[in-house]
Amino acid sequence: MSNAALTPELIRAALTTVKYPGFSRDIVSFGLVKGIEVTPEGAVTIDLVVESKNADVPRFIYQSVMTEVKELPGVKKLDVNIRHIEPDVKKKQGINDDPAAWKTVVPGVQHVVAVSSGKGGVGKSTVAVNLAVALGRLGYRTGLLDLDIYGPSMAQMCGTKEQPGCNEKEQFLPVEVHGIKMLSMGLMLDEAAPVAVRGPLATRYVQDFLRDTDWGALDVLVLDLPPGTGDIQLTIVQTVELAGAVVVTTPQETALIDARKGISFFRKVGTPLLGLVENMSYFICPTDDTVHHIFGRDGGELEAQRQGIPLLGKIPLDMRTRTCGDEGHPVALEDVGSSRVAAAFLGVAGMLADRLGL
Ligand SMILES: Nc1ncnc2c1ncn2[C@@H]1O[C@H](COP(=O)(O)OP(=O)(O)O)[C@@H](O)[C@H]1O
Ligand SMILES: [Mg+2]
Repeated sequence: MSNAALTPELIRAALTTVKYPGFSRDIVSFGLVKGIEVTPEGAVTIDLVVESKNADVPRFIYQSVMTEVKELPGVKKLDVNIRHIEPDVKKKQGINDDPAAWKTVVPGVQHVVAVSSGKGGVGKSTVAVNLAVALGRLGYRTGLLDLDIYGPSMAQMCGTKEQPGCNEKEQFLPVEVHGIKMLSMGLMLDEAAPVAVRGPLATRYVQDFLRDTDWGALDVLVLDLPPGTGDIQLTIVQTVELAGAVVVTTPQETALIDARKGISFFRKVGTPLLGLVENMSYFICPTDDTVHHIFGRDGGELEAQRQGIPLLGKIPLDMRTRTCGDEGHPVALEDVGSSRVAAAFLGVAGMLADRLGL
């Protein structure tokens, strides 16, 4: 027997290098791996379920898994069982989780990251815009798409009312602001109009935005989703090849209850959870520097641990964050030496970039 213990975890890690054919996402994050067994003698059994109309897909995956695992130290025997399911049955029930059948890649964009929250008002848009700006500051080519049509606030938070342009292919051209490219559904709508696009039309708009925008080459596209787990969220996870989701919560129990629902939604649909951001974590009194845990202490951090999701950072409750948002100059642009919040957002951006392998 080899000295480095061969474990299912080790094999799972090796399987994360096997990409789903035609996608940059791996078979583990797509949820294809249903079981891994290892005997002390080094006999490995891997069970996979592949749902695809295309019989080449399981064949290709089989070969890649064989190649990847067979060479691991300690593997004496390897069985890869693939159950190939035609997607029709699920399709009849309105479920289709054959990624090749519907996931679209946003042209030119390397990683699409959805920022989500279970509950409104926890600072999801604030985190989305500052995360995007911080990624830009770190040198990543970053876009920001505001899909929160129920409360679009991005234009305000970015301080621009510039209407997006249009290229010769009749695609939207995002607005360039604070070192990032930004497009907001709110910018395109008359201030009184959002009501008209709620419901069934909303998901159509979202698909149009994703398909028909010329982002150029981007390292990361940050999506500001509406709160909750409704139709728009479902459309996005079903139609876009997401690198994953970032969940925003405050440490407060009522926010955490909804964050858990969001997390289980992403788990159910197989969207990787990139991490959790605890917003409004604490308040530092400007007069005497005392720390106050206004919304409770460590709620987000403990939840992240419980869920096995990385904590990307804790953002303090801070007056400048709010006023910067209102003034259209995101706080993440401030000097990190004097702004604790800017430093916190750069930390979150750095951790996220790491998670994305940038
Ligand atoms: N860390 C923070 N410190 C101070 N104010 C914040 C912070 N995060 C968000 N806010 C403020 O809270 C309000 C709600 O934030 P917003 O980002 O619009 O939430 P959501 O998009 O989740 O509804 C805004 O007025 C915003 O400026
Ligand atoms: Mg918002």
